[in-house]
Amino acid sequence: MQRGFRSVTMNDMSAVPAVEARAPDPSDPASLSGVMVVDHPLVQHKVTLVRSEDTTTDNFRRLVREISQLLTYEATRDLAMETIAIRTPIAATQSRVLSGKKLCLVSILRAGNGFIDGMLDLLPAARVGHIGLYRDPETLEPIEYYFKMPEDIQERMVIVVDPMLATGNSAIAALNRLKEAGVTTMKYVCLIASRPGLRALRAAHPDVGIVTAAIDETLNEHGYIVPGLGDAGDRLYGTR
Ligand code: URA
Repeated sequence: MQRGFRSVTMNDMSAVPAVEARAPDPSDPASLSGVMVVDHPLVQHKVTLVRSEDTTTDNFRRLVREISQLLTYEATRDLAMETIAIRTPIAATQSRVLSGKKLCLVSILRAGNGFIDGMLDLLPAARVGHIGLYRDPETLEPIEYYFKMPEDIQERMVIVVDPMLATGNSAIAALNRLKEAGVTTMKYVCLIASRPGLRALRAAHPDVGIVTAAIDETLNEHGYIVPGLGDAGDRLYGTR
């Protein structure tokens, strides 16, 4: 059996969390338009590992990086291409390369940073922007404390990343801010999305496609996704 996994028998079913982490069903009629759930077996296997509280910080970080690569593969499926002439050592031929808008990855601090290195492995020429938001304890509204983007951000296709789409408030605020900065083409990539967060984000930004590895149904009273994986930032950086 794979290290880090514990098989569950009938005798220890009481140890299983009460909330089921369902495999996504893209044919589910309740699924939202504009949302791609990446149900590839490799992704789902790794999602199970990152969810587990037994996964250590170093493994968690590595798994998030690997999942970010697999999600990037799907999120970039519709990038524009053009055909160019090249020579192989054997013959002249025509072959396809990326064209169209240049890319900018935008990390919502701090957990978004866990996605960036894996994405840059596949998109080495992409620029990276950062946006920092905290939740006002009184109003619960997101307040921006950091915003650093490349100067030509409005000309780029932007992929915004944050592993956890919970209430959707931070995601909506980040996309609002990027649109204010002139961005017109965006996608949003996360690891686990809550269904309420997805609904809120789709309602606020119907033009922004969402790619996620899982949809969980609920949030708890502290705004954590259930079953989720806990605090993604703390698990990435070992701060709790
Ligand atoms: N942020 C997290 O890191 N985890 C959640 O479950 C919700 C928001």
